[in-house]
Amino acid sequence: MDIVFATHNRHKSEEACQILGPRWTLRNLHDLGQTEEIPETADTLQGNALQKAQFVYDKYHLSCFADDTGLEVEALNGAPGVYSARYAGEHCSFADNVNKLLHEMQGKTNRRACFKTVVALILDGEAHFFEGRVDGTIIENPRGAEGFGYDPVFVPDGFSETFAEMSAEQKNKISHRGRAMAKLIEFLQNID
Ligand code: IMP
Repeated sequence: MDIVFATHNRHKSEEACQILGPRWTLRNLHDLGQTEEIPETADTLQGNALQKAQFVYDKYHLSCFADDTGLEVEALNGAPGVYSARYAGEHCSFADNVNKLLHEMQGKTNRRACFKTVVALILDGEAHFFEGRVDGTIIENPRGAEGFGYDPVFVPDGFSETFAEMSAEQKNKISHRGRAMAKLIEFLQNID
């Protein structure tokens, strides 16, 4: 069965392809020739994930899923949340975002935060949602060189390393995206 992962990130789609197994033929946006970014203008993770999946479904008439992720920090009333990618402004780097976060967190004693991922799947025209979450704390000084985004300042509960100090395999087992994808894959594998 054909399905599209509405992402330009080959790393994400290759990983999903391996987990899905031979029953599903997974294509990404490059495979479809969709080089332009798909608009993400909703103000919730669910809204953005659905917007991306719906765009592909409407344009290509193929079953499709898309993900959207945000970091929610308690002391910042849930910011940066759905705006995590452009927290420090349009076209900012991961380092800019981390620096802004650490600046906003100066003097805060509550350092609790969580990553959330929502995956939206449109299968034969019907929408389904899968959520993954990981709780942890924001540390004061970045550590580690793996991963991306806010990984160097996020320590998941039950661990002493940041996500950026873990291997991709170790992070995927416990991460927000790993958990949401696991739910999606279980759903897809159980379809008759
Ligand atoms: P996206 O929805 O996967 O594009 O993620 C939006 C933004 O959230 C990214 O630009 C990163 O800043 C941040 N982010 C997403 N996933 C992760 C992660 O696994 N670790 C750290 N930051 C992440």
